[in-house]
Amino acid sequence: MRTIFWDGCVKLIDQTLLPDRFEVMECRKVEELAEAIKRLAVRGAPALEAAGGYGIALAAHEHDFSKVEELKEHIKKAAEYLASTRPTAVNLFYGIDRVLRAAMEGKSVKEVRQLALNEAERLANEDVERNKLMGKHGAKLLKDGFTVLTYCNTGRLATVDWGTALGVVRSAVEEGKRIKVIACETRPLNQGSRLTAWELMQDGIDVTLITDSMVGMVMQKGMVDCVIVGADRIVRDAVFNKIGTYTVAVLAKEHGIPFYVAAPATTFDWGREAKDVVIEERSREELIYCNIKCRQTLIAPPNVKVYNPAFDSTPLRYVTALITERGVIYPPYDENIPKVLGF
Ligand code: MRU
Repeated sequence: MRTIFWDGCVKLIDQTLLPDRFEVMECRKVEELAEAIKRLAVRGAPALEAAGGYGIALAAHEHDFSKVEELKEHIKKAAEYLASTRPTAVNLFYGIDRVLRAAMEGKSVKEVRQLALNEAERLANEDVERNKLMGKHGAKLLKDGFTVLTYCNTGRLATVDWGTALGVVRSAVEEGKRIKVIACETRPLNQGSRLTAWELMQDGIDVTLITDSMVGMVMQKGMVDCVIVGADRIVRDAVFNKIGTYTVAVLAKEHGIPFYVAAPATTFDWGREAKDVVIEERSREELIYCNIKCRQTLIAPPNVKVYNPAFDSTPLRYVTALITERGVIYPPYDENIPKVLGF
């Protein structure tokens, strides 16, 4: 089943409920989808790309407009609103912009709606195709018997289907390789324990959960053959990904373990540098409560000062190779990224 899809409205797996409950929620208004993005019911850069695209399709369908210009104005406002939900993953903006541009070509209300929906569906289908390609290229880096350490969730749930870093693992397993995964919990929202462990177990892939603070120890003990993570944005000098990724990259370098980043071309923002990127800061409640949803059990003094950035940046010198749908890219990145991805 796809993580996000169109069925007369936008439907998505509510990831805040996993692994307790599996529920598909409906978004019939752009506001509902925007809220789902903010509270991470849908999350992960490629899934956000699809959400952005479907959000524009939803804006095109949610009200009755008799004049095409009025509909277009409404869609443009919806695009701005959707773009304000989360700042770091560049894929969200790519998805919004691409479907917005397609919709603006329409000459009638009917045509605008059709163009928007067609483009959003195309975007979602492309995500699945490129993940399979990334998987095929990346699987070549994994030998039979490898243990892969991963961070956050980069699987089916972070994409429309298959996954980026976890897609590489899935493809290698599909080829018959025996691959084990070490999943880091990924505090504070536990995408690793709630989502990665859950979805790998659903597929029968061998997964062991560790806390984020155990990464150095498992590397020191020789338990990790390589690291594969995803990305929310790749700029000229760094990879932005879930907070804690940088620590994993530094530890991998110290222990001589390859550190791979799997991401599609739409995650690259080659015109920018790390200093230009806004890192999302999330609420203090995520750190002070044991369960953010019920806000009952305190795990910190309620009035403690809190710093809660959702992402960090890993300088490209820590990255052994980038796995993309067009192939595996090695340093020097300045030369090879534009060559392979055509920037
Ligand atoms: O805050 P999230 O859960 O949206 O963060 C997601 C990540 O950091 C993922 O690692 C990244 O989007 C790559 S997903 C293929």
